[in-house]
This record gives sequence, structure tokens and C-alpha cells, in this order.
Amino acid sequence: MKITIIGTGYVGLVTGTCLAETGNDVICVDNNVEKVASMQNGIIPFYEPGLESMFKRNIEQGRLTFTSDLAHGVNESLIIFLALPTPPAEDGSADLSYVIKVSEGIGVCMNDYKIIVNKSTVPVGTTELVRKTIRKYTDTEFDVVSNPEFLREGVAINDFMKPNRIVVGTRSEYAKKVFRELYEPYMRQSDKMIVMDERSAEITKYAANAFLAAKISFMNEISGICEKLGANIEDVRKGIGTDDRIGKQFLYAGIGYGGSCFPKDVLALNKIASDNDCEHEMVESIIKINQAQRKKFVNRIKSFFRGDLAGKTITLWGLSFKPETDDIREAPSIYIIDELSAAGARVVGYDPVAGPFIKSMFGDRVSIADDQYEALTDADALILVTEWSCFRNPNFDTIAGKLKSKVIFDGRNQYDLIKMSELGFNYFSVGRRS
Ligand code: UGA
Repeated sequence: MKITIIGTGYVGLVTGTCLAETGNDVICVDNNVEKVASMQNGIIPFYEPGLESMFKRNIEQGRLTFTSDLAHGVNESLIIFLALPTPPAEDGSADLSYVIKVSEGIGVCMNDYKIIVNKSTVPVGTTELVRKTIRKYTDTEFDVVSNPEFLREGVAINDFMKPNRIVVGTRSEYAKKVFRELYEPYMRQSDKMIVMDERSAEITKYAANAFLAAKISFMNEISGICEKLGANIEDVRKGIGTDDRIGKQFLYAGIGYGGSCFPKDVLALNKIASDNDCEHEMVESIIKINQAQRKKFVNRIKSFFRGDLAGKTITLWGLSFKPETDDIREAPSIYIIDELSAAGARVVGYDPVAGPFIKSMFGDRVSIADDQYEALTDADALILVTEWSCFRNPNFDTIAGKLKSKVIFDGRNQYDLIKMSELGFNYFSVGRRS
């Protein structure tokens, strides 16, 4: 099939590459001319495990091409995916200016029947808005479909190639038929397609992310109860996760969720509910607990140093919002660096891939080390922020030798309490006795 993807951000490029991988001809459109030129030369704009080789292979085989020419992208393909940014506005609502601008452009240059697909997470009613916007500029027939994306950064290829489900919001029988054909290679073992109306598809995406965020906030709240009552959140997690109705995943207490999706989407759902006079106490609580969790973590560090961080060196292990990505959007590390450096601490960070992004955000307020152990030289404490696998089983003798004092704040409960105590560390984690 001939497919065009408009927007080569994270979702757009993963979608385009994975669609090319199964034999489709994919044109990726982006208005950033320099980015297009570098992608044409096989340079991928972000880190995602397994994507680079797939990306290069499909470019070499001529199935994945790039252009800044919107009209070319629209005219060549039957299916046009919108994978555009919808950044949060001040009030938490999603900014749809990119979606509207591109819809106008599609309407102006459309020459034949097209299926326009919303892949980005968009407010309820956006499919309708896209339809109306395009209609202003053309009499040609077209369908607009909501097809939300559920992939996770770090395992995006696997999530796309072997999806749990494919949600398709459309009432058009023809679009349903085309989508079944398009996604057939990704659901060989069983039918994963769930077809519904556009609005339900749009809400499904928000509900999925808010539900997952709720699991995390719930566990973070329980972790506070565990701490106060002398219990261990890790045991509680195992104790409840074995119940199939609860499930083992997304039950890890920590420093709160981050990333480009959960914080933005839960805020947007909160705004949608409030604008439409719907009860949304639960959604509000998810946000409140998440903010409180990271604050509590930093307060514990501050109170350990009796509020005096001036002249102290603090090392952060892990800067990206989660492992296996260089994405620092809404990463807890940003809040922690901000708070500690404002309190006068010298902050050193190490991350397998995200260091340069934190450096360009904080400049002189942070030093980035090239090595996880070098980062600890003469530090007053180590803070484990992101659970990259290189931090799971580190050499504690080296850590002890490098640190000025043996203090670890573990935001991800990676280390064994008894072992830490035997090694003589002052060890603080989340929802467990220290
Ligand atoms: C999330 C969803 O998981 C995807 O299904 C969705 O498609 C995507 O958002 C999106 O809307 O595009 P992602 O943001 O890549 O994917 O990251 P997750 O793996 O979901 O992690 C989100 C945050 O939750 C991270 O900060 C992580 O550290 C935190 N988390 C996750 C916990 O604190 N505890 C857990 O048990 C799980």
C-alpha cells in the first residue's frame, strides 16, 4: 500500500518505519527541511532500540522516503497518517494548531479519495474537527479515522509489530476494509482489531494512559502508607500483582511517572472532563499524587542534609524519563536537578544516552560524566533516578570508594535492603524501611 506519514516525531517515524518493514511504500513528510535531509542520509533523529537498522534497511530498499512537500505526500498515497505534536497549552488542554494547519494543507492539495488517520493523542472531537477543516477546502470524498497509538518508548518496535490491540475509530465500511488489510501482517495469530466510533477511539487512548498512570499513583500512595507503618511496598506489590484481576505490570512505586505521554494526557483528560462538567476526582488525584511523590523524594534528600545542600555534591544515575530512551520530557531528573541546584548543591549526572539533552537544558547547573563510577567522585550522595540495567547490579565497593559518604537515595527500589545495610550504606528507597 502507499502510505504517507505527516510528522516525523517519535510516533510518526516508528509507525512509518514499521509500516515500510512489511512491504508498504511509505513517504514521511516533515516541514523541517534539515531534518528531512539528514533522514534521507539514514540519520535517525532519536534513540530507540532496534529502530536504526530497520530504518536504514527500508531506506536502502526504497520503501521509506522523506520529503518536505506536503502535496507530494498527499497525492501519492491512499492513507495519510497525522502524527503531529499536540503540546499541552497553559491550561492543560492540547494545542491543536499543527493538526489544523496540516488539515488545511491536505484539503487544499487533495486530488482523489483519501483516508486521513489521526495517530496522535487528541482531544475528543478532533476527528470531526479534521473532517470539517479539510471539507472547507475540497469537494473530493475522504474519510477521517481515529487510530490511536499505544506503543511504549524503548520497546516501540515490538509494540508496533506485535500489538495487543489495534483500535480503529470509523463508521466508514470502506475505511474498515482498508485498515484490516493494512494491519493484517501485524495480527497474523489473532484478530487484534477493535472497531468503534471515532469519539470512543479518542477516549480509549486517554482512558488507557490515565488508567496506567492511576496504577502508578495508587502504588505511590500505598508506598507512603508502607513507610509510615513499617511495611515493604515490594512485598505488597508481589502480594497483589499475583491476582490476575490486578496484574503484575505498572505496580512499581517510585518517583512518579514522567515522559511525553502520561503527564500530558492525564492533564488533558482532566481538562476535558472539567470543561464538560464531568466528575473527575480520580483523574485529579492521579496528578496530585504524582506531583507529591517526587516532592516527597526531594524533601527526604533535603532533610537528610538538614536543609543545607550548599557546597554538597550530589550524583544522579539515570536522566531519561525511563530506561532505553534518550527522551527527557517530564523526566523526574529535571525536577530533582532543579530543586537540588536551587538549594546550592553541585549536581553531577550520568546516563547511558540522555546526558547531552540534560546538559543543554541546565548548562552550568549540571556536570555530565562519561562514566557511571567517575560521576561519583567525592559526591556526598548518589541518587538512583532511572533504572537503566547498568545500575541494577553495580560494584558497591567501587561506589563506596568513590563517594565521600556512603549515602544512596534509590528512587526505583533497585537494591536489597539487607545487602545495603551489611555494606554499611545509608540507604533510602521508596515505601521500604531504611
Ligand atoms: C506510555 C504508555 O505506556 C503507552 O502505551 C502509550 O502509547 C504511550 O505512553 C503514549 O501515549 O504514546 P511511555 O510514555 O513510553 O508509554 O512510557 P511507560 O513505559 O508507560 O512509562 C511511563 C512512566 O511511568 C515512566 O516515567 C515510568 O518510569 C513510570 N512507571 C511505569 C512507574 O513509575 N511505575 C511503573 O510501574 C511503570
